[in-house]
Amino acid sequence: MCQALNCAGASIAFEDPTLPECPAVAEMAGLRVNRIGVDRDGLLVDDLTDEAAAVVTPAHQFPLGFTLSAQRRLQLLSWARRTGAVIVEDDYDGEFRYDRQPVGALQGLDPEHVVYTGTASKSIAPALRIAWLAAPTHLVPALREVLRFDETHVNVIDQLALASMIRRGDLDRHLRRCRTRYRQRRDRLGRAVATQLPGARLSGIAAGLHAVLELPGPPSAEQELLDRLAAHGVAVDGLSSFRHRPQDSPLGVVVGYATPPQPMYDGAVEALVAATRAYCADAV
Ligand SMILES: Cc1ncc(COP(=O)(O)O)c(C=O)c1O
Repeated sequence: MCQALNCAGASIAFEDPTLPECPAVAEMAGLRVNRIGVDRDGLLVDDLTDEAAAVVTPAHQFPLGFTLSAQRRLQLLSWARRTGAVIVEDDYDGEFRYDRQPVGALQGLDPEHVVYTGTASKSIAPALRIAWLAAPTHLVPALREVLRFDETHVNVIDQLALASMIRRGDLDRHLRRCRTRYRQRRDRLGRAVATQLPGARLSGIAAGLHAVLELPGPPSAEQELLDRLAAHGVAVDGLSSFRHRPQDSPLGVVVGYATPPQPMYDGAVEALVAATRAYCADAV
């Protein structure tokens, strides 16, 4: 996508916090990266300037889990129309929304200014390496040109198998089963935090496969917390690893609840709780 934007030397905006690999890829493609903060309504659109593109996660901000509000959506689209910039909508986990109807895609509001991107990484498996995008007409020739050299990396047999899953309704059935299971896992985690971790806060839980567990304490305590969790066999990411300036992050971890095999899930939640309680007891 960055190559197709064909604006080496131009700048591209990413949310802060974000998945660090995303701005890294843009930098490798020769773009200058601007980090734009987020609040509970999503991207702070007023902080955008002359970027050629802005990459956003409107349905479920990564990793904090907020939804881009209706007002910010309009504001963002109006910025793109005014400046001629492209918005890249990263809908990485849109299939998994639990508490209300799916949030509509930003791209549907203005297909000529928004590139919609989706992936099979959350819904099927990251190892599949299949993703897709719906792009504005004016970007199609540039994308085709990039794909002339890149398309061999997406296995055609896998694409045909996925197409058949979609056609036969198998993907829908699979997603329905997963949604039920992941909602149960999320609820199990929520109950454990509410009843056993006073002072902790679980957020970003309306969608997706991860939640943010915030704890009282200074950001500098993150490594100690991660070490404590690792000693209990729990692998999670520190919240600060998604920030441009890690020292600005509140103390917390990003808990992915899809990974443990089903029979091990209760044990994984218990280990998370035990390690966090041990950390909190030592911190006081
Ligand atoms: C924020 C975000 N964007 C995109 C992706 C999808 O990446 P890929 O399709 O390369 O696996 C992920 C996957 O974890 C993600 O967390």
